[in-house]
Amino acid sequence: MDNMSQFPYGISVMEITYVVASVLFILGLKMLSHPLTARRGNILAAFGMGFAIIATILFHKKDGEPIGNIPWILAAIIIGTVIGWIIAKKVKMTAMPQLVSFFNGMGGAAAALISMMEFPHVSSDLIARQGMANGQVLAILLGLMIGTISWAGSMIAFGKLDGWIGDLRIRSLKYVNIAILILLIGFIVFIMTRDVEAASELTHWIYIMFAVAVIYGVLFVMPIGGADMPVVISLLNSFTGVAAAMGGFLYNNQAMLTGGILVGSAGSILTVLMCKAMNRSLLNVIVGVFGGGGQSGLEATGSIKEITLSDAAVLLSYSKKVVIVPGYGLAVAQAQHICHELDKILDEKGVEVRYAIHPVAGRMPGHMNVLLAEADVPYEQLIESDEINPDLPNTDVVVVIGANDVVNPAAEDDPSSPIYGMPIVKARNARNIIVMKRGMGKGYAAIENLLFFDNKTRMLFGDAKSSLQNLVNEVKSL
Ligand code: TAP
Repeated sequence: MDNMSQFPYGISVMEITYVVASVLFILGLKMLSHPLTARRGNILAAFGMGFAIIATILFHKKDGEPIGNIPWILAAIIIGTVIGWIIAKKVKMTAMPQLVSFFNGMGGAAAALISMMEFPHVSSDLIARQGMANGQVLAILLGLMIGTISWAGSMIAFGKLDGWIGDLRIRSLKYVNIAILILLIGFIVFIMTRDVEAASELTHWIYIMFAVAVIYGVLFVMPIGGADMPVVISLLNSFTGVAAAMGGFLYNNQAMLTGGILVGSAGSILTVLMCKAMNRSLLNVIVGVFGGGGQSGLEATGSIKEITLSDAAVLLSYSKKVVIVPGYGLAVAQAQHICHELDKILDEKGVEVRYAIHPVAGRMPGHMNVLLAEADVPYEQLIESDEINPDLPNTDVVVVIGANDVVNPAAEDDPSSPIYGMPIVKARNARNIIVMKRGMGKGYAAIENLLFFDNKTRMLFGDAKSSLQNLVNEVKSL
């Protein structure tokens, strides 16, 4: 990089801007960790990215020449901004995970394209000087491999979350996946150890490697189903970060490097946390061997018992301790505001109301926190499931609203269940359980939930929003 606009001591304007951008990324990421500051954090990081892009366009120089193709670059930025803006404005809150997956895939694709574009230039230069066994070539090949896997995998995850791609469950697929992964590493070693006269002799290998990485990305995500998608989504997220960081190495671009490392490390930490929440090992995730779906081995013995609105209102109003377990259905119904109204009315009646937050409730990490923060539910009322579980035997009523898998006792009782081993909100330990859902529909893992047949459970059928509205009216009228 050859940057002409210099400050004293040889520091360029671009370098300063990149440092400022990196600081904004870090501050933004920090602010994302709390619902109250997350929105501002997002905007701050976006400003950082904006500065880095503007500085690159204005000040980047190669061999003393400013960058060309400005109209093309501006056109791409405008088209991308308009499309991104419209999609983000229109997307429903419940379709957010698909959108995140799609955007993540675009990041992976961008990193892969950079590698494919730069390979001929960089390798031509290197062949003359020092051969292919070089850090820059390694960064290009890793960027290509990881970026492509992230793109292909994210597109499959997008289709699965949107419900138009099913699971492909073949036991031997894990061996195929391991073989393809070894083949990809073999490609990298092969390309880096070639003694060639011209880069063009190797370019076709890059395209073959790209095709193989696409196959790996698809086969890696295809068998993953049931309740296991959160782990894979955050893993793919970290892949995109690592692929972008490879671009940062290649261009010696500090902003790209910092941004990539932040996404890569935040994604990896989230993956580990998700693995812990799902009780899965990371190795299982990487070779794509864990499944999902399937049927429970246990039979329901009890029967479904319904509760009337007035009985539910009386039960709640005369309780001392109530715990609400929110799930995906609460988000679908957009019932968070009315849910908060119920908890406020109960609070006025002297009932202690808390929320049990399961790490994978909903369809994206932190989904319930964001949803309830939107309705101004005080953060102190949101208690992690691990923390609230020991207190559930002393709880008068647990109200499960649009949640299913995260309260399913099969995770503890049924070793043949695909969710066996996943920590759950132990709703069945409470004295009474009210479940609010539309019918007997299954959850994301598509398995039966015997909690609904428990003797202590009463079902309040209907859309969460209207059921909660009716319940609020009943409680008010008592
Ligand atoms: P789910 O197990 O998906 O269950 C949601 C329940 O809500 C359904 O059984 C459905 O039953 C009910 N429902 C849907 N619309 C409703 C409405 N309008 N009103 C009332 N109820 C409604 O949800 P969960 O317990 O939150 O578990 C989340 C699942 O998603 C886990 O398996 C998790 O692994 C998976 N997942 C999570 C993430 C992240 S990171 N959070 C990402 C991908 C997948 P009815 O049809 O009978 O109403």
